[in-house]
Amino acid sequence: MQAKCDSLDNHATCVARLSREYFFIVGRLLHSTIFGCGDKTLTFHVSSCYSALSRPNSAISRRSIFNSTSGLSTLINATGLAGRIMKVNHAGEHGAVSIYAGQIFMARFTARSLLPELLAFKADEEKHRSTFYRELQRRGLMRCKSYWLCAAGGYALGIGTGLFGAHAISLTTVAVERTVLRHLRHQTELLAEDVDAVSAISSILDDELEHHDTAANHNHTPGIFGRMLSSAISGATESVIWLGMRL
Ligand SMILES: [Fe+2]
Ligand SMILES: [Fe+2]
Repeated sequence: MQAKCDSLDNHATCVARLSREYFFIVGRLLHSTIFGCGDKTLTFHVSSCYSALSRPNSAISRRSIFNSTSGLSTLINATGLAGRIMKVNHAGEHGAVSIYAGQIFMARFTARSLLPELLAFKADEEKHRSTFYRELQRRGLMRCKSYWLCAAGGYALGIGTGLFGAHAISLTTVAVERTVLRHLRHQTELLAEDVDAVSAISSILDDELEHHDTAANHNHTPGIFGRMLSSAISGATESVIWLGMRL
């Protein structure tokens, strides 16, 4: 919803738009409350909208309505796509931490030479998770419902691929990071107007690229098993992102 009052003169139009947005936001609040996806900033804007609507004829109210509709349009965008992407990224980083945790556990038996690299990757993913968690806190958003799904799926993937040794571990890293990098770059274009979101995403791009390139350097030409594994992991990563955007 992009309702925005460009002038203080079209007061009636502003009130009509504000009314629609008021009920839209209340609906979102109810949905958030019922489905456990709380959003504190919405509460503030509902009350400021309500104040403006209850005094529609005063000069102060006209200014308030103008500010509220402009702010709401921004808010809807911020808590809509950007907020959802921050949630999915936060859950995804938790999934990445879990993948490396699982692989580290198995690599102690199957690929000891990769341990220092995996430990460094896991430390990076923990930093990325904190970066997106700070963004969620700043926006008053709760973590994504896919958070524990990412943790369980990631750990299972880490254990499962770690079982097959160094080659499978590196193939997994390449497949996951390649998918993640594509999404992150797309997100920076989608959210170009949200400076904080773009800053958070951009701050992790170099690390993800380094993870991908380092793991790719270990892999020689993958055989049919490697190609199947790579496709399955890319598909699973895409599915988790798709699901997270809809939960
Ligand atoms: Fe990451
Ligand atoms: Fe990574």
